[in-house]
Amino acid sequence: MQDFIAGLPKVELHLHIEGTLEPELMFEFAQRNQVQIPFDSPEAVRNAYQFHNLQSFLDIYYQGANVLLHEQDFFDLTWAYLLRCQDDNVMHTEIFFDPQTHTDRGVSFETVINGIHGALVKGEQELGISSQLIMCFLRHLSEEAAFTTLEMALPYKDKIVGVGLDSSELGHPPQKFEQVFAKALEEGFLTVAHAGEEGTPQNIRDTLSLLKVSRVDHGVACAQDESLMDELAQTRMPLTVCPLSNTKLKVFAQMQEHNIALLLRRGLCVTVNSDDPAYFGGYMTDNFNAIADALPLTKDELAQFTLNAIEASFVDEAEKIAMV
Ligand code: HPA
Ligand code: ZN
Repeated sequence: MQDFIAGLPKVELHLHIEGTLEPELMFEFAQRNQVQIPFDSPEAVRNAYQFHNLQSFLDIYYQGANVLLHEQDFFDLTWAYLLRCQDDNVMHTEIFFDPQTHTDRGVSFETVINGIHGALVKGEQELGISSQLIMCFLRHLSEEAAFTTLEMALPYKDKIVGVGLDSSELGHPPQKFEQVFAKALEEGFLTVAHAGEEGTPQNIRDTLSLLKVSRVDHGVACAQDESLMDELAQTRMPLTVCPLSNTKLKVFAQMQEHNIALLLRRGLCVTVNSDDPAYFGGYMTDNFNAIADALPLTKDELAQFTLNAIEASFVDEAEKIAMV
């Protein structure tokens, strides 16, 4: 099975580029940028990655991003991730970035996007990996701050396919971002949002109706609501599920309890993704191996995750056909 998974072509649709910052790279950037970090070795960083929920992860994750200052840092970070994609047979990836994590520290939007985009262009040319960029708003910040970020993105429209919503789900429902998502849609962006990771099925329903999303990120809470599962299956609304993230953040106590196989068999367009691989213990192949070890999935079912991801991706129809 491991050989089958290694050779399986993959498409990633839920990946935060800031979440690919491996401890070794964090140390390298801290040194070259003269930024203090509260750890004395990469091992100490890894040891600190014990999470009990989403917030306990986010606190350490935003701290880690402080070492990213220059365009070269964003380029190197993205390039390191693309090399992992090459190892894992990832042929296409749709990457989230969180501009506010950087602009709030005085790093310009231009620095962030030019660094990431430069690496993506090189990845396409030299590795044959295609990609798209999705800009996320941090939901613990205000809608007004999201509007400011959307404004900053307008000159880079050609480099950004959509907008998303991440960070703390509890206490920050989709209602809070209804206006800025309407404006983003008007400007021609596609929309996605994290929903039903720690939140309720109602959060997923509201995300669909208010934010007009083309995909739901995570969405695993839908299994608590039979009629919602039916609706998601009938509409083939994609869910970008992140197995290792869900067990690391205690959404499921162990992988044997994960509902990804159930959702697949109910006919939902579920996909496998790595979310923040440097923090959750693995990239795409690791996520596939983890579910194949814990759940009774067949090779056809594992391959279906890739077919679903192609269906759910934001590339045009001709490119989708070429990927199958
Ligand atoms: N959920 C919410 N916010 C995030 C995540 C996540 O899984 N990863 C990075 N930011
Ligand atoms: Zn995520």
